[in-house]
This record gives sequence, C-alpha cells and structure tokens, in this order.
Amino acid sequence: MGRDVFYITTPIYYPNDVPHIGHAYDAVATDFIARYHRLRGEEVFHLTGTDEHGLKLQRAAEAAGMSPKEWVDSMEPRWREVWARLDIAYDDYIRTTESRHEAAVKKLLQTVHDNGRDDIYLGTYEGLYCVSCELYYTEDELVDGRCPIHGIPVEAMREENYFFRLSAYADRLLRHYEAHPKAVQPEVRRNEVLSVVRGGLQDFSISRTSFRWGIPLPWDPAHVNYVWFDALTNYITAAGYGSDPERFARVWPANIHMIGKDILRQHAIYWPAMLMAADIEPPEQVWAHGFLTVGGQKMSKTNATGIHPFELVDHFGVDAYRYYFIREIQFGQDGSFSFESMNDRYHADLANGLGNLASRVLAMLGSYYDGLVPEVPATGMEGDLPALVKDVTSRYDGLMLDVALTPAVAAVWELVGRANQYLVERAPWRLAKDPERRDDLAGVLYAAAEILRILAVLLSPVMPGAAGRLWTQLGISEPLAAQNVPEAAEWGRLAPGTRTTKGEPLFPRLDS
Ligand code: MSP
Repeated sequence: MGRDVFYITTPIYYPNDVPHIGHAYDAVATDFIARYHRLRGEEVFHLTGTDEHGLKLQRAAEAAGMSPKEWVDSMEPRWREVWARLDIAYDDYIRTTESRHEAAVKKLLQTVHDNGRDDIYLGTYEGLYCVSCELYYTEDELVDGRCPIHGIPVEAMREENYFFRLSAYADRLLRHYEAHPKAVQPEVRRNEVLSVVRGGLQDFSISRTSFRWGIPLPWDPAHVNYVWFDALTNYITAAGYGSDPERFARVWPANIHMIGKDILRQHAIYWPAMLMAADIEPPEQVWAHGFLTVGGQKMSKTNATGIHPFELVDHFGVDAYRYYFIREIQFGQDGSFSFESMNDRYHADLANGLGNLASRVLAMLGSYYDGLVPEVPATGMEGDLPALVKDVTSRYDGLMLDVALTPAVAAVWELVGRANQYLVERAPWRLAKDPERRDDLAGVLYAAAEILRILAVLLSPVMPGAAGRLWTQLGISEPLAAQNVPEAAEWGRLAPGTRTTKGEPLFPRLDS
C-alpha cells in the first residue's frame, strides 16, 4: 500500500481522438479494483486523466485548424463523458496541461538534473521515430521497416536532445525486481522486462527542440520535455509531489499502475529509474493487461474496428458492459470482442442468471409475504448456502487482491448458479401450497433473499448500477455504499420485516 492510501492509476489517455473500447477496458478494470478496495473499507485514490502534450497532439490540432490548447480543451470532455457513463468513479482527473503538473515536472527534472550523478546530459540524437509511440526505434526493432506497435512508417530524425542516463540504472532495476517479485505483473510481462533490462539499457532522450507543445526544461527553455518523461510524472503530480509533501508521504508509492502491454517498457523500466534518480520510491506494481481485438485485428479507426463504448452501452447497458469485458476475456491475456459473445453472456449470465434469480425471489416474497422479508424459523432450510457464501467471499477477496479479475467474478457467479439450483431443489412454489410447511417456505425465501443481499454487496464494484437497483428492490435502509466486506457478506444480516419490491427486471431480455 501507499503509506496510508490504496493508490491506483490508469494510463493517461491521448485525447487526439475519442475513446474506443480498448481504452475503456483499462478504465473499467481499474475502477473495479478501486471500488473493491473501497468496499474493503480502505481509503482509495483512483487517478485518471489525459496526456495532452507532444507532436502527435500538435499535429492533430493543426489538422483541425486549432491551437494545441484549444484542441485538447475540445477533446478532453469527450473522454470524461465516457467515464461518467461507464460509472468510472475516479477521485482525481489530471490533465498534463494543468499548472500543477507543469510545476511537478519541472521539479522532477531539476532534481534529477542536479542529483550530482550527471543523470541528465546534452547529446545528439539521430534515429527512427514513431510519432504514434513518441519513441525512437532501432532498425532491428522495426517490423518490415515500420513501427512494431502501430505498423506505420517511422521518420528519420536528428536533433540535439537532453538524455536521461537510463543505462546507469540496470543493476538497481534488477535488484528492485528481485526484491519485489510482484513489481511487474503478470509473470509473462515481468519476464519480458527482466530480459530487456538484462539485454542492456540505452539512455533515452527527454527533450525536443523540433516542436514547442510541451513543458520547457527549467534550465534550458529552448527545449521542451519529451512526452514520456512528462506523462509518467502525472502519477506523482496528483499525489502531491512538489506541492503537498504530507499528502505525498501518505499516498506514494502507488500500489498499482494499470496499463496495457504496449506501454510496459516506459512504466516498468523508464519510470522506476526516473524515480530512483530523484530518490523517490518506485511504484509497488505495474500491471500490464492484454489487448482487445475485433475480428482478429487490433482496434483502430482506419479499419473500422474502433468501437466507441456507447455503441455497446446503448444496447446492453453499462453494467452488462463492465461485466462482459471483465468476465469474457481472461484478464492479463489478449481477447477478442464480438457482439455475439456479448449477447450470449448477457442472456446466459445476466438475464437468465442473476436477473432471473432476483426476479423470482422478489416475486415470491411479494406473493407469499406481501413483500416483507420473513422471520427465520429454525428449520435449517438454508442448507449449504452460508458455507458457500463464506468460501466464495474469501476466495473473491484473495483473487481481487491478486488482480485476478476474471476468476474473481466467476467465483461470485458460483453463488448465482448455486442459488438458482437451490430454488429448483427446494421448490418454494410447492411449499407455498402446503400450510404445514410455512416455516420451511420462510426459511427458503429468507435464504434466497439473503443471497441477493450478499450478491448486491459483492457485485457492487463490478456492476455498481445493477447492484444499486437490486439493493433498492431489497429495500434495505442502510446505503449500499456504506457496506464493507467481509462483515457485510456475513450470513444473516438481512433484517426480517424489510420491505422488498419487485421492480423492473435487472437485465431484461434483448432483441439481438
Ligand atoms: N498517453 C499514453 C500513456 C501515458 S501513461 C503515463 C498512451 N495513451 S493511449 O491513449 O494511446 O493508450 C492508453 C491505454 O489504452 C494504454 O494502456 C493502452 O494499452 C490502452 N489500449 C489502447 N488500445 C487498446 C486495445 N485495443 N486493447 C486494450 N487496451 C488498449 O499510451
């Protein structure tokens, strides 16, 4: 943990275009983790934002006939509107064009510059540059002469640059990864980073004179800071670096930087080395997820695979959206999106699974008990459910702390499956016809309602909207947001006499 706070970040996004479902994948996963830690009663700081400097942005602005600042001001709301609709509950939103960020970048630059080890020096750079990555590549890193990530032609560039002496940090980085086996996750990414560092590190350029859209170096304002140095610094700006030392001491180091695998090198090698050069602790963990593909292709506007999240949210709703991407694609691996698989998951897991469970139980409470949760007679009708709840809650916790998001949600779905099966086994609709079995009926419906309560709590981080609606239908007076695990998942906390209402189905069946 950061000293006192669970601090988790998303990458900051380039606002040169509108978000697609690949960007939102990052954001949803991060929000799920952040909300889960809040549910555990931790103080959480969830940061996101936009990465607004650099040549790519300057060019996008030129193409739109605007100044870079006008351009980013016009684009940035297009990102926030998506996060609002996806229920992304960030605590702070940073834009790299804000003055608080400029101040922090200058302080970090000056600190490294003055650290007495000559870690920043002036040199000449000649190389092959990818404008989309904002990175130089060596000849043998290219694929068919093109950028290995974007597949676009690289540009030959030559300029006087300041460099960061990354080469001096290889041993310290290796010692750091050795002492902190979880510093880069998943394992496949850790191994990738180890092999890059063992292969030898080259210094990287941190300034440009060829364009102006960036933060000037404090000791040589003819140069503007190169985007990755600028961008990565956002994580400490927002934690109070250079502006609020007390807060910085409470919040830093970050617990998790959630990123996509394409920006692993910058986060797991550049960033900890930059921090070491300023005598700041590296982040605890960099977690690199896989890539979403559509029809087997990397998402992009040019091949019409750049799906905007609203296209799916309009049809399936936000909770199904969040659930689908976490559940369908093994978190950490690449995965392909298809409308068909989303439609199948929606109907199997949500409409028929959770939704049907909730509507059956609430309907029976309505018919047999006027909607009131019955008293619990001591009949033992709950069977194995309390033990399963206990087991699922504890596995869910372990998996969430380990960022095993897909198995974590699957574990909760064991409860959904078991509860539906339980209803079939106990057949409360038959018990209701037998006046001598009123106690058994009450025991079964209490247990089923209790499962719904616990599901609402456990699912609130991944599908906050649907969990909130279920909570309202259950009629529980304490707010869902005030619940904490593990206490709130203890069996038997649902008060008899609570007034439930059937309400709208959580996940109505959809025409495809
Ligand atoms: N601005 C940099 C990050 C700076 S962080 C200090 C950047 N921005 S980005 O907008 O290009 O990408 C943001 C995130 O979206 C990255 O984590 C990237 O991996 C993720 N994704 C972009 N396309 C994606 C998919 N198709 N699938 C999953 N995630 C993808 O890089």
